[in-house]
Amino acid sequence: MGAGKTSVARALGLPRVETDADVPIELFEQGEPAFRARETEVVRDVLSRAEPVVIDLGGGAVTTPEVRELLEERATVVWLDVDVDSAWRRVEGSGRPLARNFEDFERLYEERRPIYAEVADVVARDFDDVVLAVAGLHVERGALERLGELVPGDGKAALVSDPNVAGIHGMDAQLALGGRLAETHQLPAGEEAKTLTAVDRLWRELRLDRSGTIVALGGGCTTDAAGFAAATYLRGVAWAPAPTSLVAQVDAAIGGKTGIDLSQGKNLVGAFHWPVRTVIDPALLETLPEPQRLEGMAEVVKTGLLAGEPLWELPDDELVRRCAAFKAAICLRDPEERGGERAILNLGHTFAHALEAAAGYEGVTHGRAVALGLLAALRLSGRDTGVVEEVLRPQPVRVDRERAWEAMKRDKKARGGVPRFVLLGDEGPESGVEVPEEDARRELDRLIA
Ligand SMILES: NC(=O)c1ccc[n+]([C@@H]2O[C@H](COP(=O)([O-])OP(=O)(O)OC[C@H]3O[C@@H](n4cnc5c(N)ncnc54)[C@H](O)[C@@H]3O)[C@@H](O)[C@H]2O)c1
Ligand SMILES: [Zn+2]
Repeated sequence: MGAGKTSVARALGLPRVETDADVPIELFEQGEPAFRARETEVVRDVLSRAEPVVIDLGGGAVTTPEVRELLEERATVVWLDVDVDSAWRRVEGSGRPLARNFEDFERLYEERRPIYAEVADVVARDFDDVVLAVAGLHVERGALERLGELVPGDGKAALVSDPNVAGIHGMDAQLALGGRLAETHQLPAGEEAKTLTAVDRLWRELRLDRSGTIVALGGGCTTDAAGFAAATYLRGVAWAPAPTSLVAQVDAAIGGKTGIDLSQGKNLVGAFHWPVRTVIDPALLETLPEPQRLEGMAEVVKTGLLAGEPLWELPDDELVRRCAAFKAAICLRDPEERGGERAILNLGHTFAHALEAAAGYEGVTHGRAVALGLLAALRLSGRDTGVVEEVLRPQPVRVDRERAWEAMKRDKKARGGVPRFVLLGDEGPESGVEVPEEDARRELDRLIA
């Protein structure tokens, strides 16, 4: 009661069922047992549906043992833990039977806390925690050590990493998986992992049956390729990324996109395949080389600009948690990139892709290209570029101007040759904004040395 469930459900974009709505409060006049019995019926009914919904449980529902059993079987229970004063402020004067005076309310609050602690799968302090829980993301310093318990089920696990990551964190992951670890595999380091040759080898090495889970330990290249192998091997097996690079923790391992490259371009073959759990341990970033960190910071700055908050200033644990939740919320609302909302994540990327293509994907990293792309997007939005300059220090790249311009017009988001952009408007990010050709060309030129 009073924890802000209404706004949480709305923001998740899933259908929401409020059990209270079907349980007339007047039943309380006949005594609490009558009310709880009806409530239990409603919960049973809702939980028997096949499609995912957000169930907004009344605060007392879990005092009924039968409801607790149903939840245990059929739901992920998120406890929105707010202190008693904040909770009271929200329900005070609502006329609810159990919120008529502070003393009784406080007693009830204390009585129920242990029950909440027992039924909760996840304790959430804020909206981002709820999003992470619903998206199946677990963000916690030291999470790698608990990999075995965090990956759902008790079936066999195949651990996939690359030689660098295997050498640094592989042993910890193996120990954490314990008896579930059935096999280990390595993909080549870097973009080489995202080739049919590498995935073909992995497909053939895998021994898991359909009850197994692929655990992908590594950067975005490992998670993209291993996730794609999971989407396709035996027509799809469960997978759980444990991302180790900043790019992967805030971007690649979130949202269910998996894939490999073709010689014609990056990420041209793939599948949407949502992980059963994503285990994010920000402590792993401590071994990440500085240039790789900067790659990830480009996406962090992008996320902060989209969210309208300086997320890049936060310490690692919080920075990763907030950025991961931001992307996850958008992907939950638009899981297969159909509605268009997911397109805003491409802020700065139309320019970036053009620069990368003009460089033939050699010598210009994605992060550096995104940093430059953000400059252009901010300039076209009439915004200050100070943040990007300070945090990412982008330097113009030496590529062929004509080639970059041609690539931008060919961009898959361009319609009829007119490039469209994500820009920051007064009301927030907007995608599909058409920009006069000469303005787009001018901003692209400014990024080239
Ligand atoms: N699927 C998506 O939605 C999505 C989103 C963004 C990016 N991506 C993909 O991600 C890829 C880039 O990911 P990346 O930048 O992580 O590259 P990467 O996987 O090649 O990792 C970068 C390098 O860092 C090393 N490394 C990773 N973690 C480390 C650690 N903790 N300590 C020491 N070294 C470590 C790796 O071995 C590698 O050499 C691209 O292919 C891109 O297309 C996918
Ligand atoms: Zn990117």
